[in-house]
Amino acid sequence: MIRTVRTVAELRAHLAGWRDQGHRVALVPTMGNLHAGHFSLVELARQNADKVVASIFVNPTQFGPNEDFARYPRTPEADAEGLARAGCDLLFLPSVETVYPLGPEAAVRIRVPGISEVLEGEHRPGHFEGVATVVARLFNMVRPDVAIFGRKDYQQLQVIRHMARDLAFAIDIVPGPTVREPDGLAMSSRNQYLAPEERAVAVEIIRNLRTMREQAAQGLPLAGIEQEAVERLAAAGFVVDYAVIRRSDLSLPLAGNEPGLLGLVAARLGRTRLIDNLEFDGPVV
Ligand code: PAF
Repeated sequence: MIRTVRTVAELRAHLAGWRDQGHRVALVPTMGNLHAGHFSLVELARQNADKVVASIFVNPTQFGPNEDFARYPRTPEADAEGLARAGCDLLFLPSVETVYPLGPEAAVRIRVPGISEVLEGEHRPGHFEGVATVVARLFNMVRPDVAIFGRKDYQQLQVIRHMARDLAFAIDIVPGPTVREPDGLAMSSRNQYLAPEERAVAVEIIRNLRTMREQAAQGLPLAGIEQEAVERLAAAGFVVDYAVIRRSDLSLPLAGNEPGLLGLVAARLGRTRLIDNLEFDGPVV
């Protein structure tokens, strides 16, 4: 079984031992209900450090009032087993009181302007404030040398990079590739909410991202590509929040196709909201 700590004091005691031995420490922050995508982040952490800490904390401050905080799947035993198998050295499983000692309402908040306010930020107001707030706390508690974040949550990765740079966290932020099901659906804890007929349709998200990449490579106007993707996804049964093409900093490309673009989609099937993205110059998926 993996060694599990719940308090900052226990965590620090472990970390102090490792630091005395000169070990480089990686943090893999998660909300649990771990799948192969998370375990690949642990693998990547092992390549970047001597010791790996994973945190599991379903962070209340990043869920909106009508979101799935209460029903977010919690599977700590299976997660602990999976982490041990993946080669994680320590599991940090804090309570809400440990992460927010003054209570979530009284918590000092971190707001990352600009990049937090577009796309996911428009559709999930306050979401990235909650993410930046909890990640800064985890960074302070663990003080890792490196922290791993999946590219599947592309905007989250950019928000955290911005925060880490601006607040001078001496932590390398390393992105992990998106892990996909055999049909291409990006792995996500939320996939299990999908009814079988929704699961069959969910693959349309990555199919549309691939089409967007092909059309951009052909030099078609980006606004038209986005519009067609929205229409195709709606016809397949999605309620589409966005299907857009952006630069890596999520700003709008001005002059048609250019290097470094990516497509980003967020769409709902029934009660389940799915997001995915595809870097047009990245590895072919
Ligand atoms: O990506 C996640 O699982 C969460 O947003 C994170 C980074 C663990 C913060 O709660």
